[in-house]
Amino acid sequence: MYCTYFITGGAGFIGSSLAESLIKEENKVIAIDNFCDFYSLKIKENNIKELEKNKNFILYRADIRDRQAVKKIFDENKIDVVMHLAAMAGVRPSIENPVLYQEVNCMGTQNILEEMKEHNVKNIVMASSSSVYGNCKEVPFREDMIVDYAISPYAATKKANEVMAHVYHKLFDMNVIMLRFFTVYGPKQRPDLAINKFTRLMLADEEIPMFGDGTTSRDYTYIDDIVDGIKKSCYHVMKNKNVYEIVNLGNSSPISLKEMINTIGQAVGIKPKIKQLPMQPGDVEKTYADVLKAKKLIGYEPKTTFKEGIQNFVNWYKENKELYS
Ligand SMILES: NC(=O)c1ccc[n+]([C@@H]2O[C@H](COP(=O)([O-])OP(=O)(O)OC[C@H]3O[C@@H](n4cnc5c(N)ncnc54)[C@H](O)[C@@H]3O)[C@@H](O)[C@H]2O)c1
Repeated sequence: MYCTYFITGGAGFIGSSLAESLIKEENKVIAIDNFCDFYSLKIKENNIKELEKNKNFILYRADIRDRQAVKKIFDENKIDVVMHLAAMAGVRPSIENPVLYQEVNCMGTQNILEEMKEHNVKNIVMASSSSVYGNCKEVPFREDMIVDYAISPYAATKKANEVMAHVYHKLFDMNVIMLRFFTVYGPKQRPDLAINKFTRLMLADEEIPMFGDGTTSRDYTYIDDIVDGIKKSCYHVMKNKNVYEIVNLGNSSPISLKEMINTIGQAVGIKPKIKQLPMQPGDVEKTYADVLKAKKLIGYEPKTTFKEGIQNFVNWYKENKELYS
């Protein structure tokens, strides 16, 4: 279906990948991004370079904390569905600057919900995170588990988003899907994430800092599978009424830190030099998604194996390494 999609955080890793896919299918994409300095602007500018050549892509360089700027976007465009991805991401930096995380992730989100309400826009798909599961002992993580025990400010803001979106669903008939992403990786991946950092270090023949003994594990999810899951969630909220769902988007196949390092080593073609360091505060031991609900509800079916995904990332990284210098 050809629609007008509004992507917040449209110059980011996931936002720009999603925008590319929607533009290819001849939809109209409105995006907002404030190009915050969480990581190099060069990378974000590169993410949207091709998109900006397309007349169906309109980018507002503005901040979601600025209510008037958000209002202007809703005044100027007839939006079918909002994909709210703008956020301060990252667990460790949220411990250093929790107030900023609160302002962007919570107040910014409220501005989006308020302007949707004012403009009678009913459909939203929003990024939550696997971080809300904290150190839940039972695996795989299911959406109906109790997630009241966040262990980082970042996770707490994502849980707060899930709760606030439910309020707008109940009071103002909004159709909402909250997507709990599980460590997303692939071409354009954020430079602060381990796969990106480790690739950079291995290509420079430097040591890899391994926090803990290498047995912690993550359910890594390839960017194309995430984009597919977000689009399917959009179709669901647009087609149905009275929707409020929390949905895991993961790969349901955790990879240990050691295996991750070795897989990158194979793709780069070297034997990694590992330096073991203590675990970091805020880090969880394991993430592992149960994706049964996503399969049933939206027909989500992740396809990319970790080995393939890492090889794609490493190939892409080699061609774009000047962005990370
Ligand atoms: N990448 C992952 O592994 C992962 C995992 C779980 C959840 N998420 C969530 O998915 C979403 C997208 O993540 P990403 O990896 O693409 O991160 P990203 O940092 O690449 O993208 C976020 C974008 O939002 C923009 N932004 C930040 N503050 C803003 C503000 N105040 N106003 C307007 N724009 C602002 C940034 O400039 C950036 O381009 C985030 O909500 C993140 O919390 C990501």
